[in-house]
Amino acid sequence: MDLFEYQARDIFEKHGVPVLGGVVATTPEEAREGAEKLGGGTVVVKAQVKTGGRGKAGGVKLAHSPEETAEKAGEILGMDIKGHTVHRVMVAQGAKIAEEFYFSVLLDRSNRNYLAMCSVEGGMEIEQLAVERPEALARIAVDPAVGIDEAKAAEIVDAAGFADDIKGKVAEVIRGLWTVFKAEDATLVEVNPLVKTEDGEIVALDGKVTLDENAGFRHADHAELEDSAAADPLEAKAKENDLNYVKLDGEVGIIGNGAGLVMSTLDVVAYAGEKHGGVKPANFLDIGGGANAKVMANGLDVILGDEQVKAVFVNVFGGITACDEVANGIVGALDLLGDHATKPLVVRLDGNNVELGRQILAERNHPLVTLADTMDGGADKAAQLANA
Ligand SMILES: Nc1ncnc2c1ncn2[C@@H]1O[C@H](COP(=O)(O)OP(=O)(O)O)[C@@H](O)[C@H]1O
Ligand SMILES: [Mg+2]
Repeated sequence: MDLFEYQARDIFEKHGVPVLGGVVATTPEEAREGAEKLGGGTVVVKAQVKTGGRGKAGGVKLAHSPEETAEKAGEILGMDIKGHTVHRVMVAQGAKIAEEFYFSVLLDRSNRNYLAMCSVEGGMEIEQLAVERPEALARIAVDPAVGIDEAKAAEIVDAAGFADDIKGKVAEVIRGLWTVFKAEDATLVEVNPLVKTEDGEIVALDGKVTLDENAGFRHADHAELEDSAAADPLEAKAKENDLNYVKLDGEVGIIGNGAGLVMSTLDVVAYAGEKHGGVKPANFLDIGGGANAKVMANGLDVILGDEQVKAVFVNVFGGITACDEVANGIVGALDLLGDHATKPLVVRLDGNNVELGRQILAERNHPLVTLADTMDGGADKAAQLANA
């Protein structure tokens, strides 16, 4: 889960990373009040959208009075930045910037490690810098078992080439950012710019934090950071029911057990769809091991709630879960859903207790259900029905 800048700011503050005062506002009037709360001096009005490059897009503006703050907020609210509409701004204390640096620490999946990146040339052009002069961006591997201790922080500031007089302060802030990364179970903590002010203080002016949702059970407070307004309603519903669901763009609803099987089902359906008007998979949905009637009903309910779905392909390989349980699940789900179930279902079962599973479905003989013998055959049938 990506956080808004103001949420990152709050988390930084909680862990002792130096930040400036900031107040969130959703109207120009609130922005004016925010500026007054911050003392009425120079502030920066910042669009709160989950994308970078706000500065370049005109989403970060200086204001010198509460009146001007309201005016700038009025300009920024409602703006579109790379497809994100601005619903909130943060009114932040204005910093007197002497220098801008860059720091990040992230989960480096390809090297199965953590990686810290740091540069004395931070600011808005960091992506360009990484491409054009990669040597100006220090990359230091961080051992997860050790983290960024004093020695590692010193190694990072040395590699980045900080001036001697601020090395110590920067290293301390970097250790604070490591605390954020570790304590909050983040997969990314990025600060750009990390600035030196004219008074020689080191302050995090812009923060980007991605939290690891797999660690959500350890952080009751993370749930309220979620931007529920922006979530896809079907994905939200699936989440409530603990289903692994991702909404896609096509017409063929997919249910399978096991992420690998569901992934290959998406491929097979996309391929079959080429012969049937170009229909595509409508979603990823893995119902996992214990596919009982309730789980199946929840899954079907989510998929049938997708207006784009024209047909559903249930592709289950019975392993730990036996096919007869799955078949009972489907029958039970259709009964539970009653009139809500209106779209054709193609079901392919194989593996543990397949004969019994097929028998249960054949006996029920539900008008919406078609049995398929193979995965390819099922995909083809589902694509054909979706295109009908
Ligand atoms: N509180 C602030 N005070 C002064 N200048 C700021 C402040 N926040 C941001 N800036 C300036 O605006 C630039 C862009 O802001 P930033 O928050 O990094 O947004 P983005 O990375 O989305 O462009 C920064 O590089 C900095 O120069
Ligand atoms: Mg930035």
